[in-house]
Amino acid sequence: TKQQTWSDRFETSLNPIIAEFNASIGFDIELIEYDLTGSMAHAKMLGLTGIITPEEAETLIRGLSQIRQEYRDGNFNPGIEQEDVHFAVERRLTEIVGDVGKKLHTGRSRNDQVGTDIRLYLRDQIRQIQDLLREWQKALLNHAEKHIETLIPGYTHLQRAQPISLAHHLMAYCQMAQRDWERLEQIYDRTNVSPLGCGALAGTTFPIDRHFSAQELDFASIYENSLDGVSDRDFAIEFLCASSLIMVHLSRISEELILWASQEFSFITLKDNCSTGSSIMPQKKNPDIPELVRGKTGRVFGHLQALLTIMKGLPLAYNKDLQEDKEGIFDTVKTVKGSLTAMTILMSEGLEFRTQRLAEAVDEDFSNATDVADYLASKGVPFREAYNLVGKVVKTSLAANKLLKDLTLEEWKQLHPAFESDIYEAIKPKQVVSARNSYGGTGFAQIKDAIANLKEKMVV
Ligand code: ARG
Repeated sequence: TKQQTWSDRFETSLNPIIAEFNASIGFDIELIEYDLTGSMAHAKMLGLTGIITPEEAETLIRGLSQIRQEYRDGNFNPGIEQEDVHFAVERRLTEIVGDVGKKLHTGRSRNDQVGTDIRLYLRDQIRQIQDLLREWQKALLNHAEKHIETLIPGYTHLQRAQPISLAHHLMAYCQMAQRDWERLEQIYDRTNVSPLGCGALAGTTFPIDRHFSAQELDFASIYENSLDGVSDRDFAIEFLCASSLIMVHLSRISEELILWASQEFSFITLKDNCSTGSSIMPQKKNPDIPELVRGKTGRVFGHLQALLTIMKGLPLAYNKDLQEDKEGIFDTVKTVKGSLTAMTILMSEGLEFRTQRLAEAVDEDFSNATDVADYLASKGVPFREAYNLVGKVVKTSLAANKLLKDLTLEEWKQLHPAFESDIYEAIKPKQVVSARNSYGGTGFAQIKDAIANLKEKMVV
């Protein structure tokens, strides 16, 4: 005997292995709250337009809320034979309210239904991820505000370049998170479009009111073309893309934290609450959190690549390939939320900057060489000439095992008569940093402005 919901065209049941292969209930149960909400709006619309009676609509809505309660109480656990969350809900509804339950699916298809569900789900998740981005930004800002005058070597090519403020370094990540937040804001708008009422592909013969159901579900607008409405997953791809970028940013700071926690850098100390030990080497304290975040970045990229590939050859309109969108989206949501949460905890209570060690680091290298060249250039020596002179003095100092601050005034003057005793002040790390006061630079005054400006943006 047949068990599926499909029509009497089918005489026998699916092969059980095929049934399992075909089913999505194992994962799309995640959409149930949204499926119920979408169905309630649809039922209300059917009642309002006279497609069913207002009493029937009410009965359907009552049945659907009972299913919601059953699900929340842990009493709704549909199995593989139900195929997907949409069939599972419809079947249970008919058990609860009787034959009128069979009227729910009037004027719609699972195709516009699942499109509605996934958009409602993503709308919620986007808001939650935006909130987590804000928490992440606050954790970064907290350190930044404390460490405006803490200096850290700045690198290019992972070679010491110029000293910078630690706050400036952290604020760079805060700016990335701000772009991530704004990107999600735009994607929210493109997700917030209702496909409900597009039907299987071509619309419906019933006098439905798509604007009404859209309004009920707080959608800002509706799809103009029913084929496009049921088969568009652009918004999901954009979401995976924005998620990939969030992970890129988290992965980059993770990489830096891992380096900074190494004995070679020793710029931070990991606290016990956020690091792990080794099963064999008793001295070890490992940065597992940033390593995991760096690693998890790969799976999010994979989900983006997968959905792009799923979509590229699909003829219009719905194809079952689209069922493959869900697991990647769900896993991305879980991964991004988990990573943001863990990194926020790590940043706010799991590490300490070793300020003494940082101060030594910026004081024992040649990262003030640009400032010597700038010093000469400001006295009228063409920059390229100054640059070459300083290159020479770096070479001789390295050979003599000296730093620039160790040169005598006589040695400076030998290099170029324009040097005066104020050269010593000009190449002190603090001065080097505070002098880079161009807009967006690491100068302390700039950083204070940058922090204030970003905080203002974060309020909206
Ligand atoms: N489980 C399906 C999905 O996730 C629901 C839509 C099925 N539609 C269909 N015509 N088979 O995409």
